[in-house]
Amino acid sequence: MKGIILAGGSGTRLHPATLVVNKQLLPVYDKPMVYYPLSTLMLAGIREVLIISTPEFLPQYRALFGDGSTLGLSIEYAEQARPEGLPQAFTIGRDFIAGGKVAMVLGDNIFFGNGLVDLLRRAVMRPYGATVFAYRVEDPERYGVIAFGDRRRVIDIVEKPVVAPSNYAVTGFYVFDHRVCDFAAALTPSSRGETEIVDLARRYLDLGELHVEQMGRGYAWLDTGTHDSLLEASEFVRTIQHRQGIQIACLEEIAYLQGFITREQAAVRGRLFAKTAYGRAILSAIEN
Ligand code: DAU
Repeated sequence: MKGIILAGGSGTRLHPATLVVNKQLLPVYDKPMVYYPLSTLMLAGIREVLIISTPEFLPQYRALFGDGSTLGLSIEYAEQARPEGLPQAFTIGRDFIAGGKVAMVLGDNIFFGNGLVDLLRRAVMRPYGATVFAYRVEDPERYGVIAFGDRRRVIDIVEKPVVAPSNYAVTGFYVFDHRVCDFAAALTPSSRGETEIVDLARRYLDLGELHVEQMGRGYAWLDTGTHDSLLEASEFVRTIQHRQGIQIACLEEIAYLQGFITREQAAVRGRLFAKTAYGRAILSAIEN
């Protein structure tokens, strides 16, 4: 399966921090934000990745990851001229997707938790339909929200409702089957002037082919949409890394443990970052 990271947008909610820097390149504690969603795709077993960003910032992503070979990945890049909605990723990425299944992760979404790999892989392995993940939050109005009917049957998904039908937000990790590009091309913009990912999900729901997986208490899904939540995400990463002596989203460590790169390739990267806990995590992964 292929994967897309959508990392464009205007970043206006984080101004002035994002006046000359793309939001998804801001650091979350010790690494660029985009490392976290890329790690999510890698943990799902995905090695072919398309990064979509603005014409202004795409060169920085190329400088950061190149062709992806240092991580044992193939990374391609595509421009989104204007942020016209999340489903635009599937019209921009049509040639890359090439009629197959695709996972998309938003460049500002951070996932962490025991069992994440199994959860992601189960979604990726499904041959048909779409999968979204529901996560309980205190402020569902800021997200796509699931509406449940009798016996917890999913009856709708609504974007940023004034009155939320539940506390279950839809996270920014989605898996779609081969029909997604056609479905995305047929969407019309909402009253916000953008096409909406919830409308794409609803298309599958209407066909009876939307899987809604719950991400329970054992998972962290972190938001980076405001200055406060960005700082809180950094504090979360710092706390876990310090307490456990592990790294969250150490891409080379993941690549090595997944067998995407050799011991020697990992060692080169570990030595490159040897002055940091990030580099030491890579070196310790190959020693153990
Ligand atoms: O984070 C999960 C939420 O993401 C979902 O619950 C919502 O259903 C979904 O619409 C989205 O809501 P946001 O309000 O977070 O969307 P936002 O416009 O902030 O965009 C999310 C990320 O995608 C952000 O990093 C910018 C990027 N983006 C967004 C749009 C609309 C693009 O790269 N291109 C775009 O056209």
